[in-house]
Amino acid sequence: MARILIVGATSAIAIASARLFAARGDDLVLAARNEERLGSLAADLRVRGAGAVDTVSFMAQPQQDYQGFAGRVWDQGLDCLLLAHGSLRSQDRCQDDVTASRREFEVNALSTICLLAAFAGRFAEQGAGNMVVISSVAGDRGRQSNYLYGSAKAAVSTYCQGLRNRMHSSGVRVITIKPGFVDTPMTAGFEKGLLWTQPEQIASGILRALERGSDVVYLPWFWRYIMLVIRLIPERWFKRLSL
Ligand SMILES: NC(=O)c1ccc[n+]([C@@H]2O[C@H](COP(=O)([O-])OP(=O)(O)OC[C@H]3O[C@@H](n4cnc5c(N)ncnc54)[C@H](OP(=O)(O)O)[C@@H]3O)[C@@H](O)[C@H]2O)c1
Repeated sequence: MARILIVGATSAIAIASARLFAARGDDLVLAARNEERLGSLAADLRVRGAGAVDTVSFMAQPQQDYQGFAGRVWDQGLDCLLLAHGSLRSQDRCQDDVTASRREFEVNALSTICLLAAFAGRFAEQGAGNMVVISSVAGDRGRQSNYLYGSAKAAVSTYCQGLRNRMHSSGVRVITIKPGFVDTPMTAGFEKGLLWTQPEQIASGILRALERGSDVVYLPWFWRYIMLVIRLIPERWFKRLSL
């Protein structure tokens, strides 16, 4: 039985993951900004077999006290931290708006990096545990349709890579999850096609990554090869594409 903190616990991918953790009887600490949804999620997870379920309010914003937040939830230590919050506002609406760009970068990159910075030393001292971060395939290459979101996820992926390197000798694992297109409230306005996945499939992949002690996981697996091809396209051609 593990003690797991999920930040962004009301996200569709987090809920699907939490249900799998609950079925194992894990203890859960759920953090999100919507306290009403948190309460009903906690009740549902208890019915599904979770051990102790606590809730804590969390909002990704510049004035957030990340160290204070980490201190409040760390009292008994943690086996696993899952960072699942995120925002995908329209690139068109944000790209020429400095305030909106800054807000999106805050939610998708800075808050995640601050949380990792606030928890890393605690995990290192504990000498064990898993820090699982949901990044995205969007961070693998900048595209005109979502480079604000993509650049934030790229920052997160690179930060995780360095943190993994730092943590290797301390017995703490840092796992970067890179989903492709997932059918969740975040992508409600998108037309769905063959490459789309359900959040339950991503959740199963997250649990598999934890069991295997993976480093970087593309979900589903075929995105590793799609992104390999996309990264290999020379910039002089790539910049002409409408992606
Ligand atoms: N869906 C995809 O295609 C896809 C692909 C790759 C990666 N991802 C990543 O997967 C993760 C989970 O996303 P999802 O697809 O499950 O989307 P989702 O269901 O829309 O969940 C997004 C979550 O982020 C929370 N959130 C947004 N802004 C916040 C803020 N300022 N402070 C605190 N929480 C905030 C939302 O809270 P509320 O519930 O209160 O709104 C919600 O819990 C995200 O990191 C996302 O970037 C998604």
